Amino acid sequence: MKIIAPSVLSADFGHLAEDLEMINRSEADWLHIDVMDGTFVPNISFGFPLMEPFRKYCTKPLDVHLMIVHPEKYVERFCDAGAWSVGFHLEAVEDPLPILDLIKTKGVRTCLTINPDIDVQRLVPYLDKVDMILLMSVFAGFGGQKFIPETMDKIRFIRQEIDRRGLPTLIEIDGGVNTQNAAELFAAGADALVAGSAVFGANDPEEAIRMMKKE
Ligand code: DX5
Ligand code: ZN
Repeated sequence: MKIIAPSVLSADFGHLAEDLEMINRSEADWLHIDVMDGTFVPNISFGFPLMEPFRKYCTKPLDVHLMIVHPEKYVERFCDAGAWSVGFHLEAVEDPLPILDLIKTKGVRTCLTINPDIDVQRLVPYLDKVDMILLMSVFAGFGGQKFIPETMDKIRFIRQEIDRRGLPTLIEIDGGVNTQNAAELFAAGADALVAGSAVFGANDPEEAIRMMKKE
C-alpha cells in the first residue's frame, strides 16, 4: 500500500480551506492531524475547534495523531469530531489497551505510536491489537525536522514481525519524509507516509504528493 498523508500542521491556516481543497484535488490519501499539548511535547498546535473545518473542507479521511498526556480523556471526543483513525503515544500511557478499546467502541481505527528513543520491541505485543503502528522518524513536536536514518531498520523489523504473523496492521512513518526518501521508505515496508513541509512547502504540492506515491 502506498498511502500519503499530508500533515496539516504545515498548512497555511490563513488559507486553510484553500489548502484543504488542494489536498482534496491531489492524490493524497489521508489528512494527518497533529495535536500537541505543550506537555507531552514542547509545542502546542491545535485541538477540537479545528476538527470542524478539517471535517467540513477536507474530503479525505482524518488521521489524528495525539501528542498529548492522558489521551484516555480525549480520544472519544476526537472520534466524535470526525476522526477516521486516532493514534496516541505508547510512552504517554501506562496501559494502552483500555484506550484502544475506547477508540474501537467508537468504530474508529486505532494507532499506537512511539518516539525515536523508545525501544521498537515495546510495540510487538500490540501489533495484533491495533490497525496501525506509527513510527516517529523525528522527535514529536515540530514539523520540518531531519529524518532520523535509524528508522529504516525499525521499519524492516516491524514489517518482518507483521508479515511473519500474517497481520493486516499498517505501518505509518512520520517526520522528515520527502520526495527523496519516500520510495526507500515504502520499499523498507512502510504503508503510509506523513509529509508536512515536503508537501506544503513545495512549489507544487500536488506534484510533490504524486512523486512520493511513484515507484
Ligand atoms: C511532528 C509531527 C509530524 C510533522 C511532520 O511532531 O508528528 O506529523 O507534522 O512534519 P514534516 O513532514 O515537516 O517532518
Ligand atoms: Zn504526526
